[in-house]
Amino acid sequence: MDSEIKISQKLDKEDTLKNFKKEFLNNSNEIYLDGNSLGKLPLTSLIKVKNVLEKEWGENLIESWNDHWLKLVERVSSKLERLFNSSNDEIVVGESTSVFLYQILHSLINSKIYEPNLISDNLNFPSDLYVIESICSLTQNSKKTIIDYESDIEAKIELLKEKIKEKPGIITLSLVSYKSSWLYPMKELNEWAIKNNSIIIWDLSHAAGVVHIDFKKTKTLVAVGCTYKYLNGGPGSPAFLYVKKELLKSIRNPISGWFGHSNPFSFSKKFIQNPGIMKFTNGTPNILSIAPIESGIDIILKAGTKSIQEKSRKQSDYLKNLILKYLIPLGYKIESPLLSNNRGSHISISHKESWRICRSLKEGPLKVIPDYRPPKYIRLGIAPLYNSYEDLTRAIYKIREITQNKEFLKHTKAKPKVT
Ligand SMILES: Cc1ncc(COP(=O)(O)O)c(C=O)c1O
Repeated sequence: MDSEIKISQKLDKEDTLKNFKKEFLNNSNEIYLDGNSLGKLPLTSLIKVKNVLEKEWGENLIESWNDHWLKLVERVSSKLERLFNSSNDEIVVGESTSVFLYQILHSLINSKIYEPNLISDNLNFPSDLYVIESICSLTQNSKKTIIDYESDIEAKIELLKEKIKEKPGIITLSLVSYKSSWLYPMKELNEWAIKNNSIIIWDLSHAAGVVHIDFKKTKTLVAVGCTYKYLNGGPGSPAFLYVKKELLKSIRNPISGWFGHSNPFSFSKKFIQNPGIMKFTNGTPNILSIAPIESGIDIILKAGTKSIQEKSRKQSDYLKNLILKYLIPLGYKIESPLLSNNRGSHISISHKESWRICRSLKEGPLKVIPDYRPPKYIRLGIAPLYNSYEDLTRAIYKIREITQNKEFLKHTKAKPKVT
């Protein structure tokens, strides 16, 4: 057998996390490298959701709010608190990342604790930048600065620090950049922000479940993030919001929905905001979408984010070396940082035919599923709990084959809605 495949199989044998793959639904003849967009289905989610539908909703109806559903929201939130080492009553699940970001930005501006200087950068996810833009247009005196590093791959940390010092305020950053996978030094930047009367809102969407994050050690004050990527919560599963307790006391949710009331079922005329993190819930929680998040988080807690990150780094270095050896000679470029300490868990590559190559990868007896981000990025996401070293090797072989044989030429350049 091919020596590269033999090496990967040996690494898989030695892998202490190898048994976690069985916890997910795995399609045969498919290598899924898109866990950075939508994680796989944990098998226990099938049982859990069926139970919520049949027993809790079907049979127990309205009684399930008290018997199961309010507890579910609390339980999922507190499991996230364990995952990120925060104190209790600091994390809640419920809205999308974009809505939570809007709520927290609005709260911070209104609190007047920080100057209304909103800073972000060109590596951030477009939705975060749209939200910053809309907040700026709706709040008096707020000003926005979007730093352009003139690179889609790396942030210039010294430049970012300089800007924070120049215009102290409220900074929004994605801990792992969605395109290049750049990983920011979280603790260093939090300390810098605190020293300069500023606060960083961390968007953890591309980091949660695959990067080891400790809110206490990193002195994190606020974070948001989605649960449908490496946390395997399912399509459109609600996001989370974290606010450190000391800060929570001084801010208000701009939306006074009844679930943010300190006693929603008093139906009082006066709105009395919940003093805890529940103040950031607005309306009735999405039980059907929150239920599968629990199974996803349980698996991550069992494996441990330290071990997951350690494997992710080894695998992404392994993948990088395969790219250097087999794809760079074929006209590919690596669009991610070269050092694994500066990366999250995906590697972006580009080629002038990136889009058509992505289409060809999804065809044939062995499907390889990466994702594509315009104008030229193929993102190869590594989910260490279900991607093996052999998967990575076979995926690179398939990319090489498609490129060498120009198999992509049979496709048009037209793109569907979701890429
Ligand atoms: C970094 C980042 N932030 C925000 C979002 C948007 O999240 P939501 O759809 O939950 O608003 C995404 C979606 O992929 C993302 O990757």
